[in-house]
Amino acid sequence: RSTSDPVSGQADFVVVANRLPVDLERLPDGTTRWKRSPGGLVTALEPILRRNKGAWVGWAGVADAELDPVVEDDLELYPVPLSAAEIADYYEGFSNATLWPLYHDVIVKPEYNRDWWNAYVEVNRRFAEATSKAAAHGATVWIQDYQLQLVPKMLRMLRPDLTIGFFLHIPFPPVELFMQMPWRTEIIEGLLGADLIGFHLPGGAQNFLYLARKLAGQQTSRGNVGVRSKLGVVQVGFRTVRVGAFPISIDSGQLDEQSRSKSIRDRAKKIRKELGNPKHIMLGVDRLDYTKGIDVRLAALHELLDEQRIDPADTVMVQLATPSRERVDSYVQMRDDIERKVSRINGEYSEVGRPVVHYLHRPIPREELIAFFVAADVMLVTPLRDGMNLVAKEYVACRSDLGGALLLSEFTGAAAELRQAFLCNPHDLDSVKDAMEQALNQPKEDGRRHMRALRRQVLAHDVDRWARSFLDALAHGGAAGPALIAP
Ligand code: ADP
Ligand code: G6P
Repeated sequence: RSTSDPVSGQADFVVVANRLPVDLERLPDGTTRWKRSPGGLVTALEPILRRNKGAWVGWAGVADAELDPVVEDDLELYPVPLSAAEIADYYEGFSNATLWPLYHDVIVKPEYNRDWWNAYVEVNRRFAEATSKAAAHGATVWIQDYQLQLVPKMLRMLRPDLTIGFFLHIPFPPVELFMQMPWRTEIIEGLLGADLIGFHLPGGAQNFLYLARKLAGQQTSRGNVGVRSKLGVVQVGFRTVRVGAFPISIDSGQLDEQSRSKSIRDRAKKIRKELGNPKHIMLGVDRLDYTKGIDVRLAALHELLDEQRIDPADTVMVQLATPSRERVDSYVQMRDDIERKVSRINGEYSEVGRPVVHYLHRPIPREELIAFFVAADVMLVTPLRDGMNLVAKEYVACRSDLGGALLLSEFTGAAAELRQAFLCNPHDLDSVKDAMEQALNQPKEDGRRHMRALRRQVLAHDVDRWARSFLDALAHGGAAGPALIAP
């Protein structure tokens, strides 16, 4: 089929996410085009959908776009429209000013607003209805992330014939924090509409099991959940809901291959030259989000410069920051804070034509990003909390030369797997500074050994394996094995 042909529904495999993998862009001349959507969810799922031939239900990223189903770049897309008011209340409000901060350890105070909640319910219902139209009889539907936690239950009521999976791409919070949520029982019951609920880490799955018992009053299994093993169980009437930990990953083989190409190698060398051939290049790559600790790594750099532990004549930092959720207050404030920190460092330590910090506030084309990964001596991944963090894995996948060092926050899901990184506690600035200094000065042979071990992990556990382990568990559900404990 060629680009932009209309399609009819009846898909056997349907991915449902707030965003489509591409955003509709309206150009000044009135025409439109599709561009890649931001964030890790799309990075991970796009290759899966391509290989599994299915449909993707989601929002096209702009207000009031009533679009027909379309095939774009070989992906079957079912756009769900959102009005400007729904973007404000459901997306910027409940999803990104209530759920996002609550699930990320309340780094920013979550706001609880009844109108936002009502919009969340309404939009979740629209996604359930759109999915119901796209899915064939008996299809497998895979619902993604915190924006759509009510869809599993709503969809099951519309379509009991479907097999429904749900995966949460962000952390599932500690029980004490989740209990703040005024609509906590509705959310747990919404999720329990699925046959399988996946989290990145066993801890999230265990938090959920406790809440299913305490808030929804269901019997659950006892004992610890494993990684891709020992699923937990919630008995909901005659239905058995499984709960598991499935750490997400990237298309590591593809990145490994791309990063070995001559054009990327050449571009990486050129980047180093353009930066003035410094001894050390440090790199940050993130959505501009307060969870990512961009401010933390800038503060660490500033103090190390003040203490003359880093020499501004031979070290540069590049921060590539994609604009994100730009109308949400906490994002506006974080951007101001970061930009002030960048200009302070540059004001105090740069020379004309040789800034210490290079800061780009825009999305970077994929190939260019890979060249930056290949060029960087130290990758800075310092979130205060992150469900997984795919950037850390992307960096490792791009280092077939065994060069480079990864500085990684303990508060990322990735830290559970990437144990040979320079781990740091982003709440303890000394810990970040020490790890940064060690990463900059690590002996070459040690670095190669660490990178070899990191690469073994990332290349073996790729996104295909993640999807397969989730979808196999979803397909082979069956009756409860473990003994249950009453609420
Ligand atoms: P999140 O999903 O919270 O944004 P992840 O680290 O899991 O965080 O995934 C981010 C994805 O977005 C990665 O695939 C990364 O390469 C991409 N990305 C992040 N920053 C940029 C940028 N400045 N330009 C282009 N892509 C980016
Ligand atoms: C994270 C979330 C995704 C989200 C992405 C980009 O990866 O888990 O659900 O799509 O960030 O954020 P945005 O608000 O632009 O969709």
